[in-house]
Amino acid sequence: MSDNLHQLRCFGCGQLLRGDQAGPDFRCALCGDLFEVIYPGWKHTGGTDRPNAGALKWLWRERRLSHEKLDQSGVWRFRELLPILDSFGSAVTLREGNTPLYPLPLAARSLGLDALFAKHQGMNPTGSFKDTGMTSALSVARERGFQWVACASTGNTSAAMAAYAARAGLRSLVLIPQGKIAWGKLSQAMDYGAVTCQLDTDFDGCVRVLTHIVAEAPIYLLNSVNPYRLEGQKTPALEIAEALDWSVPDHILVPGGNLANSSALGKGFREMKELGLIHRLPRITVIQAEGSAPLVHSFAENDGTALTPVEAHTRATAIRIGNPASWRKAAQAIHESGGWCLSVSEAEIAVAKAELGREGIGSEPASAVTLAGLKYLVADGRVAPSDSVVLLLTGHTLKDADYTIDFHRGTLLTDAESAPVAASIQPLRRNALSVEATPQAVLAALRSVADSEIALARN
Ligand code: F0G
Repeated sequence: MSDNLHQLRCFGCGQLLRGDQAGPDFRCALCGDLFEVIYPGWKHTGGTDRPNAGALKWLWRERRLSHEKLDQSGVWRFRELLPILDSFGSAVTLREGNTPLYPLPLAARSLGLDALFAKHQGMNPTGSFKDTGMTSALSVARERGFQWVACASTGNTSAAMAAYAARAGLRSLVLIPQGKIAWGKLSQAMDYGAVTCQLDTDFDGCVRVLTHIVAEAPIYLLNSVNPYRLEGQKTPALEIAEALDWSVPDHILVPGGNLANSSALGKGFREMKELGLIHRLPRITVIQAEGSAPLVHSFAENDGTALTPVEAHTRATAIRIGNPASWRKAAQAIHESGGWCLSVSEAEIAVAKAELGREGIGSEPASAVTLAGLKYLVADGRVAPSDSVVLLLTGHTLKDADYTIDFHRGTLLTDAESAPVAASIQPLRRNALSVEATPQAVLAALRSVADSEIALARN
């Protein structure tokens, strides 16, 4: 019996297709919009394929004790909510998901919040949230008999794709913007054996080139226009609800780049509500970097109904995207949940990242936009002290060690950028000291650090 219960529906015109009928660019032939995966059997209460909420909660918890590879995956543990394969046995997994939900007591105290958590998707096998979507979409590629997979990437998608392709015995092609991705990510694509091409363009230019390639060659596109990516990427929503005993937080804050992640989380919460697993939606708020904020402009200008691409700039290279593919889906997630969309400055991102670091929670800069954005929501009362908040941290701190080192050396930001937050930066900076190799010299260094901390605290 096939496990496969899905169809594809065009997000724009509603056209319905079988899964294998979508074109190689995953755009609707009638209107050009993206597809989303739907499960028609869930439609009616009592519909034959509609999962039972209570039974599912019990089953998913039981699977946490299992040694079976699918049960050990934090994506496929929830497989009843992503029946996209003919056989779940063909899933390609690196035991992704099951990531921690960490309390952030220091940030909570300084913002005056009762309950603040970080869902750390950087704790996935290749160090980013992309693994949850790669296990689902690459499994579909393998089941459909593709030998080659490809993506354009700011780095994390390529790292994830290369790893999962290697596990599945498939070949992978990566297109990345020359000089604009973090070294940790580039090294991963090489390590996992991808054919990696650095193009003299930005992420959006890489997407354009790849769209032509997949139209001509039998290569399966694994960018997030591929709707199967979002099926895996919705599972952190399930994990969050499960970890909070099937209540939902008041707010979820997500970094926005190509805008698939916010779309996927919106879909996850929406489906859980439709199936009776939860009773309300959290407000989903998307945070972008100031220089790469086309969705923020769109909300300001026309409430998210039209989007003008921008030329993107930010040191948070993961979200340096000016023409986000999934903006309509993300706008829907924001609208239906009552969330918002806002942007933060380069210096605010750097400070937020260092503050998370001080709590023992490393993340890459793109993840830290969430804490930076939360400060605005608290300051203007959109987040109340009694609200529960979850920040989605999307990437591991070791992805972009250069950024961290530059911040602590004081070479990351220009004086003009850092001026508005200079007072916050000073106590956070912790450059490595060059010290003579004697105990006396190390103790003297320690004393001088302690003295300067006392002086700072006095000021
Ligand atoms: N955070 C990190 C660490 C990312 O790598 C990305 C996207 C995002 C946030 C934004 O997520 O695009 O779904 O809105 N990285 C992509 C890549 C584009 O190629 O790795 P989004």
